[in-house]
Amino acid sequence: MEAIKIFCPATIANISCGFDVLGVALDSVGDEMVIRKTVEKGIRITKLEGQDLPMETLQNVAGVAGLALLEASDYQGGFEIEIYKNIKAGSGIGSSAASSAGAVWAMNELLGRSFSTMELVRFAMEGERLASGVAHADNVAPALFGGFTLVRSYEPLDIIPIPNPEELYATVIHPQIEVKTSDSRKILKTNITLKDGIKQWGNVGGLIAGLFTSDYGLIGRSLEDHIVEPIRSILIPGFDKVKQEAILAGALGCGISGSGPSIFALNKGEKTALKVGKAMKRIYQDIGIDFDVHVSKINSEGIKRL
Ligand code: HSE
Repeated sequence: MEAIKIFCPATIANISCGFDVLGVALDSVGDEMVIRKTVEKGIRITKLEGQDLPMETLQNVAGVAGLALLEASDYQGGFEIEIYKNIKAGSGIGSSAASSAGAVWAMNELLGRSFSTMELVRFAMEGERLASGVAHADNVAPALFGGFTLVRSYEPLDIIPIPNPEELYATVIHPQIEVKTSDSRKILKTNITLKDGIKQWGNVGGLIAGLFTSDYGLIGRSLEDHIVEPIRSILIPGFDKVKQEAILAGALGCGISGSGPSIFALNKGEKTALKVGKAMKRIYQDIGIDFDVHVSKINSEGIKRL
């Protein structure tokens, strides 16, 4: 195989209680990429449509993630990358992760799958390091593994795929303001109180248990964030109201998607997810901020060939 066309899903990181450790892949929104083997060594981004992002290899997350893979490989050639972005940069639904993870997943396919998915996560994290200054894995892991993932440990890297209940749907609203992950990380405190820690790890355990047992009530009760949301929500106009209306419309829970400004809700069933989307929309219509809404089933397979 000399070339491959792929779909790279958008992802929701943190999922309220799991800052930097939990994430989930979406089905109905994502980028497309075409990756081609070349005789020439190195990586070239030959096309980038949909967003205004750098095309120089060392400035582009797909380029940097791809170089990390090339360095670890004994392949003597190189790759050309075409990127077709549907995920807006700075939206909080894993735009940089989709490009980073997509590049390394496709290259691995073209090289006969010589690397494990865990190794691909490690390469893709280099793209995240370029985008946000921190090599976090909570977007690239669900993009590569599919479904929900837990980063149990960063050193050594240990990622646990978590099953997703059949009827679980996500609603995401993206108010059209840009929040850079690097900026929204800078405002976080570096210490937490034991009291907040106790609440937070109780919720992480509860959410994982709820996902394993398809206990929708438990999933909903566990979608709480006592550490990051109180600080970051200040950057998102209308956040409290959107959350309140989403819950009133039947969402199991609602929080900031990744580093924002997107807001996500998890719901039981597509009908509720659509209703929640409508409730969220009304808030931004009233405030007068443009938005995109995505309603999606959980994507269990992650990146796939088209
Ligand atoms: N865990 C990361 C953060 C995700 O919240 O900064 C960024 O999408």
